Amino acid sequence: MLTQTKTAPEAVTETRSNSIAFYDFHPQFDSMLSEVWQGLSETPKKIHPKFFYDARGSQLFDQICQLDEYYPTRTEVAILEKYKQEIAELAGEYAALIEMGSGSSHKIRILLDAMQPAAYLPLDISRDHLISSSQRLAEEYPWLDVHAACIDYSTAWKLPYRAEKGQKVAFFPGSSIGNFDPEDAHNLLKEIAQLVGPKGNLIIGVDRVKDKNILEAAYNDHSGITAQFNLNLLQRINEELDANFDLNNFSHKAFFNTELNRIEMHLTSNIPQYIKVAGKTFFFEQDETLHTESSYKYSIENFTQLALNAGFKCKQIWSDEKDWFSVYFLQVN
Ligand code: AVJ
Repeated sequence: MLTQTKTAPEAVTETRSNSIAFYDFHPQFDSMLSEVWQGLSETPKKIHPKFFYDARGSQLFDQICQLDEYYPTRTEVAILEKYKQEIAELAGEYAALIEMGSGSSHKIRILLDAMQPAAYLPLDISRDHLISSSQRLAEEYPWLDVHAACIDYSTAWKLPYRAEKGQKVAFFPGSSIGNFDPEDAHNLLKEIAQLVGPKGNLIIGVDRVKDKNILEAAYNDHSGITAQFNLNLLQRINEELDANFDLNNFSHKAFFNTELNRIEMHLTSNIPQYIKVAGKTFFFEQDETLHTESSYKYSIENFTQLALNAGFKCKQIWSDEKDWFSVYFLQVN
């Protein structure tokens, strides 16, 4: 999915202040509509989780990260805090630090002070969120060059920066790699290996396989924020693709699929119903599910193997005391 042959649109510098540049590779409305139509035509129905992140979805995701039940964020942050000096030493001086899916750019702040990179390159699909987060960050770190790019991994884009002295270091936190099916995860890691080049590095956070109850609680929080996050996808489609989903007629469902080592999130139809999306009609049976997200969990063995197959060797692994989450420092062979 990452190796489409379409030529990249020219990078357009839309805003420029002292040390911040913004490049827009225009993830397209057209592709969202055709992807949504395609996904709703399949059995079982599915929509890619990248579409969660409109302004409201990004906001809800930030709320999820603060939930008691949602352990990944605070666990990863604690690991990064504890080992940031080691991480910085492995990354070396003058690094160009590239963040894959930068969101609110919270976690990067831990690494910035320790690493003092030559430049920070946040990449994200959510344009407005990316711009506001990068601007805030550039103000807080006046010594840091920021080159932000709005991209969708699945369409063509290129890195808006040429590294001069140090290594390229990609940062892919939050177990976002878990959103990709094994084959796509393999391809994405290969893309990242190419992006950072020979001896380039990848710091990646990966959620681990653990007790099913702990996993399921993280995606079924009591305050219902994850349910809102899931349902917001329908709201977004209503607004952006002229659809008529009634959010009251769908329910959030999340469970751990033990065979495939993944949390699955679905929206299930409470009633039999017809839904119109930009003029096309789709039928949902009662209890039919729309698969909105997979979140794969990895043992150390499985993830190390995945990384190896994609051309990375594992320089270091840091985990919390409970072994719930791990941060890997990988290097291209
Ligand atoms: C951002 C993909 C890592 O899978 O845990 C959180 C998204 N979905 N709660 C995850 C998410 C529901 C999150 N990732």
